[in-house]
Amino acid sequence: MTTESRTGPAPAPTGPLSSIDYSEQIPNNVNLAGDRRLQRALEGWQPKFLDWWKALGPALPTKDVYLRTAIAVGRDGWAHFAHVPMEQYRWGIFLAERNPDRAVSFGKHKGEPAWQQVPGEHRAALMRLIVVQGDTEPASVEQQRLLGATSPSIYDLRNLFQVNVEEGRHLWAMVYLLHAYFGREGRAEAEQLLKRNSGDLDAPRILGAFNEETTDWLQFFMFTYFTDRDGKYQLGTLKESAFDPLARTCEFMLKEEAHHMFVGTTGVQRIVKRTAELMKSRGTADIFGCGGIPLQVIQKYLNFQFSVSMDLFGSEQSTNAGNYYSSGLKGRWQETRRKDDHVLLDEVRTMTYVENGEFREKEVPVLSALNLDLRDEYVADCANGVRRWNQELEDAGLDDRLVLPHEGFNRRVGVYAGHHVSPNGEVLDDAAWQACVDGWLPSAADRQAVASLMVPEYEYGKFAGWIAAPQTGINDQPVEFDYVHLAEEGIA
Ligand SMILES: [Fe+2]
Ligand SMILES: [Fe+2]
Repeated sequence: MTTESRTGPAPAPTGPLSSIDYSEQIPNNVNLAGDRRLQRALEGWQPKFLDWWKALGPALPTKDVYLRTAIAVGRDGWAHFAHVPMEQYRWGIFLAERNPDRAVSFGKHKGEPAWQQVPGEHRAALMRLIVVQGDTEPASVEQQRLLGATSPSIYDLRNLFQVNVEEGRHLWAMVYLLHAYFGREGRAEAEQLLKRNSGDLDAPRILGAFNEETTDWLQFFMFTYFTDRDGKYQLGTLKESAFDPLARTCEFMLKEEAHHMFVGTTGVQRIVKRTAELMKSRGTADIFGCGGIPLQVIQKYLNFQFSVSMDLFGSEQSTNAGNYYSSGLKGRWQETRRKDDHVLLDEVRTMTYVENGEFREKEVPVLSALNLDLRDEYVADCANGVRRWNQELEDAGLDDRLVLPHEGFNRRVGVYAGHHVSPNGEVLDDAAWQACVDGWLPSAADRQAVASLMVPEYEYGKFAGWIAAPQTGINDQPVEFDYVHLAEEGIA
């Protein structure tokens, strides 16, 4: 990575095939100039994207932001950091390098060469997968657009904007595939991706969690930890796709996604650290009065974001998921590292469900339960962050711990929908649930109390009282670096 700081767009790269052409109106490494029709179509979409960004992107006026921009997709040196006016960020089309020998690694086409074109029989299903993924990317930008007004620091503000511009780029990634491989229908879907909006009653985003409001920074960090992580796992399955352009697109998106996860993990960790300090020094768990977020409220936010993100995996059993797998459209998490036949016709596994107020287990074909397979991988990964957050509590000498709620808690999708399951895994009747739910999920009063702490801290190197400073800055810069220059009108 380059470490120099400069103003303006990234320099034109020199070097191998994997580098990106920044002299084009749309930066890309897919030789867009070689396909004039496609280039014109995407250049027609570009102003609509910019209009959307201006209307529904970050609301806080800024002069420029210290952002990283991809300059090459190879193993090293893909990122360039510089102060860039956000609307001049070079959103573009970047695919991981093509492996000419790549073969399909699972399903009934296992061993055949990866597809460079969309097979007619899978056209509708592939387009749907791309549209659903594409819909989540701008949705999160919309959900987060007001957060700049209450940022706990300039460092955090920069990270928010980095996530936002990259989610915008992920939209570009999916729109490229729609335009390049799905003809007129693909172009129509690309238009719709800008017309549906998060929380819009008439034209909402496709998936539930992407219509929830991101009310405050605690929720933002929980979102980037739990919901961006869902994105990581979905991209991980598409990275295995037999449709090679989709696989290569998702592979590169995953590199950007790692930073989003970092923002969530360290954001919550820094809050927990500050909370632990206040609990110790004040000798009480009720720290709202001294400007901290009580651990119990952090736990409620965790419960909420984890459960709505679990819903994003869909029903445990799904014929579609099985068909996507067998046809080669969507693999499993780390498909090539799995030690089985990668066809799965004879494999079975157990699955938990609720019957007559009790948990039961049954054996089901693995092929029918691939959503559950992915969700299990996700849950195991989620637990890692919780351990890291608990380390802060342990280091502070506190006995309190955060926990992931039971997989059946607060679910609206799949076998647990329609049942009440407590965070520690008891099936409850309506009355028992209603009596306790305010202790498990953020109440209006909790959200209000958290919101009242959300006053902006725009002085370089300073942090709001409810969150600890990070250990290090971004790209080897100091914590107090001028990561964002606010526009005059943006300074309160
Ligand atoms: Fe994304
Ligand atoms: Fe993300």
